[in-house]
Amino acid sequence: MNILVIGSGGREHALGWKIKQSKKAKNLYFAPGNAGTLEFGTNLEVGVSDFQGLKKAVLENEIDLIVVGPEVPLVEGIHDFFVGDPEIRNVKVVGPKKTGAQLEGSKDFAKDFMMRHNIPTARYFSVTKNNLDEGIEFLGSLTAPYVLKADGLAAGKGVLIINDLSEAQNSLREMLAGKFGQASKKVVIEEFLSGVEVSVFVITDGKDYKLLPEAKDYKRIGEGDTGLNTGGMGAISPVPFVDEEFISKVESRIIIPTINGLKVDQIEYNGFIFFGLINVNGDPFVIEYNVRMGDPETEAVLLRVKSDLVDLLEGAADGTLSEKEVEFEERTAVTVMLVAGGYPESYEKGKVISGLNRVANSTVFHAGTKMQENSVVTNGGRVLAVSSLGENMTEALATSYRNAELIQFEKKYYRKDLGFDL
Ligand code: AMP
Ligand code: GLY
Repeated sequence: MNILVIGSGGREHALGWKIKQSKKAKNLYFAPGNAGTLEFGTNLEVGVSDFQGLKKAVLENEIDLIVVGPEVPLVEGIHDFFVGDPEIRNVKVVGPKKTGAQLEGSKDFAKDFMMRHNIPTARYFSVTKNNLDEGIEFLGSLTAPYVLKADGLAAGKGVLIINDLSEAQNSLREMLAGKFGQASKKVVIEEFLSGVEVSVFVITDGKDYKLLPEAKDYKRIGEGDTGLNTGGMGAISPVPFVDEEFISKVESRIIIPTINGLKVDQIEYNGFIFFGLINVNGDPFVIEYNVRMGDPETEAVLLRVKSDLVDLLEGAADGTLSEKEVEFEERTAVTVMLVAGGYPESYEKGKVISGLNRVANSTVFHAGTKMQENSVVTNGGRVLAVSSLGENMTEALATSYRNAELIQFEKKYYRKDLGFDL
C-alpha cells in the first residue's frame, strides 16, 4: 500500500516511523513533512489545506491510504472532499468527516453532544453577542477561576482561565468582539474542574474502537507547570493513576457513550479520538475532544503500540476494526521536546542542529526541522521530540535527557522536570 501522512510535526514523523515498520506499507509520502520524515519517505510540497494539490499528489503517486495528522484539514472537510470526487473516492482516508470533526472544531458542538449523550463534562453556557447578558449572569453564578473558551479552532490558544470575575466579564466581551477572530464569535463559559489531566486515545471505525496507550502531556513552558501554554513540552505513558478501575470508568462513562452517540446522531466517523480528560477525585470528566492524535503524546504512545499500525488504520477505514487487536508494550515511554529559545513567544528559525548522530537508545522525532544545504536546521518552535522506553519513568527520562544534552542548536531549551507530578 502507498500511504500519505498529512502534516509536518513530531506526530507525523512518529506516525511515519510506525507505518514504515508494517509489511503492508510500500511507499510512504508526507505532505509537507520535515527533515526527519525524509528518512522514511518522500516529502511533497503541498500544504495540509491545499485539497486540490493533495488530490494531484495522490493521483500522481498512486496513494491508497491517507492518514490526516492535524485537525485543521479535518475540520475543513478533507475527508468529504475525497469522498465527493469520483477520481479519488476510493482512496481510504483515516480521519473523520467535517461533521464528526466538529467535536474538535466547535466547543459548543462538543458540549451539546456530551449533554445529549450524558457524558461527564464541566457545566457550561454558550454565549454570542445576542445573549451576552445571560453569559455575564452565568459567570456570576460560578466560583473562581473562570474558564472561557473560544468556540472555534484557535491553535490551542483559545482558552482563558481567569481568577477575577470582572476581568472574566471583560475578557468575555473582548472575545465576542473578535479577540480570537471568528473562532471567538461564540464563547463557551465553563465551570472550573480541579484535578490531574490525562490524554486517552482510541482508534475507531465508527462501530468499534480500540484503546491505545494513554499519556500525560506537559503543556506549560516552565518547570513546575508554570508560564505560558505551549503545544506540549513532553509526554509520559503510561500514567500511574490510570489503573484498571479508572480506565473502566473512562470506557463505560465516556468512550462507549461517545461511540454510541456518534451512531445515534448518524455521524459517520473513522480515525482517532483523543479524549482530553481530567481526573476529579477518581472520576473522569471530558475537558475536550480532539479528532486526531496528540502531539507530543503520539511520540511516546506509538513507542508502546506493538501491533501493526497500518493494519489498524485499514481496519478504521474499512469498518473491520473488530477483527484487530492492539498489543501494548509494558515498559514506560517518554518524550522530551527540545524547543527554540523564546517559544511559545517569538523565536528564531534556521539554526543548525548537530549531534543527532550521537544519540543512542532514543528515537528522535522531528517536530520543526527542515533540510538546508545538507544540514538539518530548526524550522519551528518545537524542534525535536526525544523519545525513549525504559523499565520505569525514571529510566526512560534519564535516557531522553542524556540524549537531549548531546543534541545541540542555538538557544535550545527543554523542561528537565517531566514526571515531577506523577
Ligand atoms: P482545552 O483547549 O479545552 O483543552 O483547554 C486548554 C486547557 O485549559 C486544558 O488542557 C486545561 O488545562 C484547561 N481547562 C480547560 N477547561 C477546563 C475546565 N473546565 N476546568 C479546568 N481547566 C480547564
Ligand atoms: N498535546 C495536546 C494536543 O495535541 O492537542
